[in-house]
Amino acid sequence: MLFGKRILLIIGGGIAAYKSLELIRRSRERGALVRVVMTAAAQHFVSKLSAASLSGDKVYDDLFSLTDEAEMGHIELSREADLIVVAPATADLLAKMAHGLANDLAATVLLATDKRILAAPAMNVRMWLHPATRRNVATLLADGVRFVGPHAGDMACGEFGPGRMAEPAEIVEAAGVAVQGDTRLPLPAGLDLRHDRPLAGKKVIITSGPTFEPIDPVRYIGNHSSGKQGHAIAAAAASAGADVILISGPVAIADPVGMRVVHVTTAQEMYEAVVAQLPADIFISVAAVADWRIAEPAGQKISKSSAAPVLTTVENPDILASVAHRAQGRPTLVIGFAAETQNVIEHARAKLQRKGCDLIVANDVSSAHGVMGGTRNTVHLVTATGVVDWPTMDKEEVARRLVAHIAALLPAKTAGEKS
Ligand code: PMT
Repeated sequence: MLFGKRILLIIGGGIAAYKSLELIRRSRERGALVRVVMTAAAQHFVSKLSAASLSGDKVYDDLFSLTDEAEMGHIELSREADLIVVAPATADLLAKMAHGLANDLAATVLLATDKRILAAPAMNVRMWLHPATRRNVATLLADGVRFVGPHAGDMACGEFGPGRMAEPAEIVEAAGVAVQGDTRLPLPAGLDLRHDRPLAGKKVIITSGPTFEPIDPVRYIGNHSSGKQGHAIAAAAASAGADVILISGPVAIADPVGMRVVHVTTAQEMYEAVVAQLPADIFISVAAVADWRIAEPAGQKISKSSAAPVLTTVENPDILASVAHRAQGRPTLVIGFAAETQNVIEHARAKLQRKGCDLIVANDVSSAHGVMGGTRNTVHLVTATGVVDWPTMDKEEVARRLVAHIAALLPAKTAGEKS
């Protein structure tokens, strides 16, 4: 779809600018002709030389260059393209575009063009969720600008949530769609637009991360869950407009923004925190809850000089099963995860039935797959009627798709209950 198309790539000044070099390479592989404009800020992150080498053309950055005007005036620059791609589209560039500023070459080109514009925003999550940015994005959408991303995830600034630039491969796909004039591109995450918020008005409780069960004041039984998958689902649900309560075990990643986060340590605390937040419309149990705890944790550190301790365990409450089996006030949708190391689907089916939930998201957590603690996941959606296999993808993408799937399931489930 990009073969022979002329793309004018405007690189804004953000940490994600390094991905734009990969974007040039991938676009050219698809047969596109890429011409690059860089803002002054972008040149703090990537060099003109790199962009020029990859695009096979000079890079434009000066509004007042007589040489450039002689070769290719900024009006021609903006008009000769089939598509203008802004990546990364920083908060500053989006604001300039929304308000029609023209105080540098990038902004002037964007104001002077009558061609389609595809923006790939990238910024700190709070900047993305700020009302000013949301207003600017809403204005740009109304002006016909298309967007790809941003996505929720770990950010270079140490925060977590929507604001991470889409990957180059996804931008190239979106460019192929946008250049055809197609409007099927999804709306950007976190926008306060009715159709972008399929979970608006829904209360969603999500558990995430491991639980730690004390042996004595310094030792515990735990597991390798990092909270990445659960936190990503919480961020995606919040972006979809839900009122999210995230109940997190001890994790090293930052709290996602735009939701209430309750921190717990043990399974018993997690159980009590979940029950305290009910009722809810949706419960998603992503946490790797310890099945057992030590019956009587020692009050003092067990000394190595005493005999090797014999640890007697008792079963923890099954949070998922207890929520799913509630006679009154059961959430409309109860979704569990199944972490398996063998016979993944068979075990997930058994859990679906035993725990009484509506959907089990099964994943293979054998160490070879690197799911626990890793950034990618391969999941299988197991329901009473069948199994749907999803390809391996980033946990953020699993989260976005799962939230979209849940939003699609909800009306049918609600209607089914009423009848
Ligand atoms: O945190 P990450 O590093 O991103 O890894 C993500 C993950 C692998 C932890 C996640 O994708 C996952 O599989 N979560 C479920 C882990 C788990 O405990 O699975 P399980 O098969 O033991 O439990 C089945 C379901 O019952 C789960 O929804 C679990 O939350 C729930 N459960 C289990 C025991 C218990 N006492 N109470 C529960 O609610």
